[in-house]
Amino acid sequence: MRPRVFVHGKSFVPYLQEVSIQERIQALGREIDRDYDGKDPLFLAVLNGSFMFASDLLKQITIDCEVSFVKLASYSGMQSSGQVTSLIGLSESLKGRHVVILEDIIDTGNTMMKLLPALEALSPATLRICTFLLKREALQHAIEPDYIAFEVPEIFFLGYGLDYDGRGRNLPGLYQLEAEK
Ligand code: IMP
Ligand code: MG
Repeated sequence: MRPRVFVHGKSFVPYLQEVSIQERIQALGREIDRDYDGKDPLFLAVLNGSFMFASDLLKQITIDCEVSFVKLASYSGMQSSGQVTSLIGLSESLKGRHVVILEDIIDTGNTMMKLLPALEALSPATLRICTFLLKREALQHAIEPDYIAFEVPEIFFLGYGLDYDGRGRNLPGLYQLEAEK
């Protein structure tokens, strides 16, 4: 793992080594395998951030399953209230399916609060959340993810899918913003 990464003039230092991430993901994979055996789950990875987590986790899943990808597009509405969010990229029917959302990080929970009702409306049999990171102290909604790889403090992270203004997503380990001196 690189000892320090610079992105847009900020310095990031290691927080989680690649091997620690992979170890935790293996355990998570075994847990999900057990919970969903015989249920033919549909994993829905939320792009862009979850691409690396989804890839590594899904390689650990050995039961029959389906994998798809969605994206939340936000645009400014014509109304004064501003942001409108819509779900794009979903071609599978969720009706009666056991759906597991794969997310990179839950911070305030605002994104999840938009995603959940949009997916609930498609009548899945069950709907669960699996997130790579949870910033529990930052949560502003009553959301309890069903699977959490790591609970992390309220600091800014980079790598393993997470970006800083489009950069750093491809780093295989997780970095944290270095405190300025
Ligand atoms: P929310 O606050 O739970 O809605 O999270 C919104 C989005 O903010 C996440 O999906 C990430 O894309 C981004 N985000 C939150 N915390 C971090 C971080 O520490 N690093 C990079 N992106 C983050
Ligand atoms: Mg995200």
